[in-house]
Amino acid sequence: MSETNPRLRAELEGIPTYKPGRPAAAGGPVAYKLSSNENPYPPLPGVMESVLATAGSFNRYPDMACTGLMNELADRFGVPVSHIATGTGSVGVAQQLIQATAGPGDEVIYAWRSFEAYPIITQVSGATSVRVPLTSGEVHDLDAMAAAVTDRTRLIFVCNPNNPTGTVVRRAELERFLDRVPGDVLVVLDEAYREFIRDPEVPDGIEIYRDRPNVCVLRTFSKAYGLAGLRVGFAVGHEPVAAALRKTAVPFGVSQLAQDAAVASLRAEDELMGRVGALVGERARVVDVLRDQGWTVPETQANFVWLRLDDRTVDFAAACEKAGVVVRPFAGEGVRVTIGETEANDIFLQAAEAFRKEL
Ligand SMILES: Cc1ncc(COP(=O)(O)O)c(C=O)c1O
Repeated sequence: MSETNPRLRAELEGIPTYKPGRPAAAGGPVAYKLSSNENPYPPLPGVMESVLATAGSFNRYPDMACTGLMNELADRFGVPVSHIATGTGSVGVAQQLIQATAGPGDEVIYAWRSFEAYPIITQVSGATSVRVPLTSGEVHDLDAMAAAVTDRTRLIFVCNPNNPTGTVVRRAELERFLDRVPGDVLVVLDEAYREFIRDPEVPDGIEIYRDRPNVCVLRTFSKAYGLAGLRVGFAVGHEPVAAALRKTAVPFGVSQLAQDAAVASLRAEDELMGRVGALVGERARVVDVLRDQGWTVPETQANFVWLRLDDRTVDFAAACEKAGVVVRPFAGEGVRVTIGETEANDIFLQAAEAFRKEL
């Protein structure tokens, strides 16, 4: 047998592995997972029924073109079907967008800290990450991002609201930024948490993309729609971009279960958005209590809150876990905590208060 290993691409060396939010420990005290920005509500009965009905035929491949879902999305958002592309979660679509635009020698710009998949999918493609620090208020620094554009820039992510800080960029600053970016650079507005936004000054990317051929919007069914485990997301962009996404797609990447659940969810949107409203209410409560406790909490428009804890981050996460909630630490920086069930939020708030008193 040969001693030689297969030759792997050098770009893969040192790639950070994606760290999923940890689940609650089995057999521990009451434990809630507030570490992955999931929707705490169980599937709606109608959505469940559609999935169960489809489950009887999973010996067959899914509809590769996602016809039913694409038509439903086109109607819902008032865009042509040819402007939509679906994929295995919006992270899958984000990876396809990089594959379609950037390779070795090219640059991908994003704010930092932001969604932790950006550096990974950039490095896998062989392109170079250009990270632009958030402002001291934990917001995208769009002026600095525009200034970071070079003739090697191929794609820019704007995560709005930003994961993990929950902060947003508003209409005027976003338009000014887009006016500065050259037309041959793709700007991806990652709106995974769009449905949780209540600030009227935050623009809907799907309105922005319409007269800007270099803008593409990413959306997901994983958060507000509660389908994280089924893996389906989509992009809305002009035809060349959507066509490139079809070329880079893994064939049959979106299961029929996911397609049918997504259609059923769009049809049950009123009910689902009622749940989102309840989570937004909980978000306001959590932020208010934290501020009363003395914490500095950036204004969040997502289903999570961010606490900058620097070198106390890991201790804080451990204290939360001991109390019964698993949060998402970014060692040396801060903790992201998903808004979950009321009881989970209460446990988190008690843990935060106890920690603060010991500071
Ligand atoms: C900003 C952002 N974009 C995209 C995603 C990917 O979500 P999914 O692949 O489940 O659609 C996430 C998930 O956490 C996210 O936070």
